[in-house]
Amino acid sequence: MPRSPARSDRPAQRGQAPSGRKASRPKTDHRTRQPANEYELEVLSGLERVAATELEAVPLARDIRGLRFWFPGDPQRLTRLRSAVATYRVRNWDVPRPRGLLGHQQLGELTEFLHSVVAFGGHASFRLGAAGKESTVMQRLAEELEERLNLPHKPEDGELLIRLRPQEQGGWDVLARITPRPLTARPWRVCNMTGGLNASIAYATHKLAGQRDIDRIFNPMSGSGTLLVERALMGPYDALVGVDIDPKAVECSRSNLKAAGREVEVAMVDALHTGLPARSFDLVVADLPWGDAIGTHGGNEVLYPAFLTEMHRLTSRQGRVAVITHEIRLFERLLRDQSKWHAHELLQVYSGGHWPKVYLLTKR
Ligand SMILES: C[S@@+](CC[C@H](N)C(=O)[O-])C[C@H]1O[C@@H](n2cnc3c(N)ncnc32)[C@H](O)[C@@H]1O
Repeated sequence: MPRSPARSDRPAQRGQAPSGRKASRPKTDHRTRQPANEYELEVLSGLERVAATELEAVPLARDIRGLRFWFPGDPQRLTRLRSAVATYRVRNWDVPRPRGLLGHQQLGELTEFLHSVVAFGGHASFRLGAAGKESTVMQRLAEELEERLNLPHKPEDGELLIRLRPQEQGGWDVLARITPRPLTARPWRVCNMTGGLNASIAYATHKLAGQRDIDRIFNPMSGSGTLLVERALMGPYDALVGVDIDPKAVECSRSNLKAAGREVEVAMVDALHTGLPARSFDLVVADLPWGDAIGTHGGNEVLYPAFLTEMHRLTSRQGRVAVITHEIRLFERLLRDQSKWHAHELLQVYSGGHWPKVYLLTKR
C-alpha cells in the first residue's frame, strides 16, 4: 500500500530502496487522498528566498526542502508561480550512472513518468539537458525516448526539457519540466523589447518593495511594461502609472497590458520632466538603463543623479523607491555622495549574463 508523505518520508535513496523498486514513486497525500508527486523549482540565482516564500503559500505543498517539495493532485497551481523560471516533476532512480536508466525496468518506469508529465503539459517534442548529452549513452536514451514517447527529439528547443542529475544521497534524479515553455515566458508578453526585464525579477522586486492597496505607484522608464504588468496582476493599489520616452516602448507596454487584461495608464513622457506635482507617488519602481543594451555609461552619469533628484521630489514623505540596475558602481557612488536617501540592497540576481542589483530607497 502506498505510504502517505509525512515530513520524514524521503524519496527512496540508494541502499534504502525496497528490493525490486528502482524508482521513487508518487505517494498518496493523507489529507487529499490524491497521489503526491515530488517537484523542484528552477529560479534565477538570487531569487531563491523569494521563491521559497511564494512556495510556502501554495496550499498542500509539503515537505518543502529549499525549492524541492511534494504536492498532491493537479499541478496547474504550480504553473502559476511567478518567481520561478520553471517547475519540474522529479523522480529518483537508484542507478550509479545514467547508463542504468537504459535497463528494461528503468526505461519502462522512465517512460511512464514522462508520459504523465506530457499528459499534463501537452509537450510536442523533447530534449535532454544534462552534462555529457552528446555521449553515446545520452544519444541512446534519446533514441529510446523518441520511440517510447512518440515525440520528436529536438536537441535545441524541445518542449519537454528532461534534466538528469546525480543526487547527493545517491542515484540519479530525472527532472521533467511540466510546461512546454518556461514560466517566465508569460502568456501576457505579446511584445518583447531589447532590455526587457525577466518577469520573475519584476515580481520579486514588487514583493520586496511591498504592496499596499493605498500605494500610488510610478514606473518611470517602463519599457515593455514588465514591472507594470506584474504589479497590475498582484492585486489592489490606488494608482499605477508608467512613462517612457520611446514611443515604441509605450506601444509595446500597452499591448502587453492589454494581453494581461489590465488597464494601466502609460504615457510617452520624459520621466525627469513629467510636470507632475511634488509627492504624487508613494512608490516608484524603476528598471533604469543599464548602459549596455539600453543607454550608455556616459549618458547614465547624467541620467542617474537627475533621476534620484526628481524621484525625491515626486515621492511622498514615507515614499519608497525600488531601483533595478546593473550600473552598480555608479549608483552606489551616487548614494554615498548624497544625503537625501537611506538605501539598502534588496537582492542581487543573475539575469542573462548580468548580475544586476535591486535597491530600496527611503527618504532621510
Ligand atoms: C532598461 S529599459 C526598461 C526595460 C523594462 N523594464 C522592460 O521590462 O521592458 C529602460 C527604458 O528607459 C527608457 N528611458 C530612458 N531614458 C528615459 C527618460 N528620460 N524618460 C523616460 N524613459 C526613459 C528607455 O526608452 C527604455 O525603455
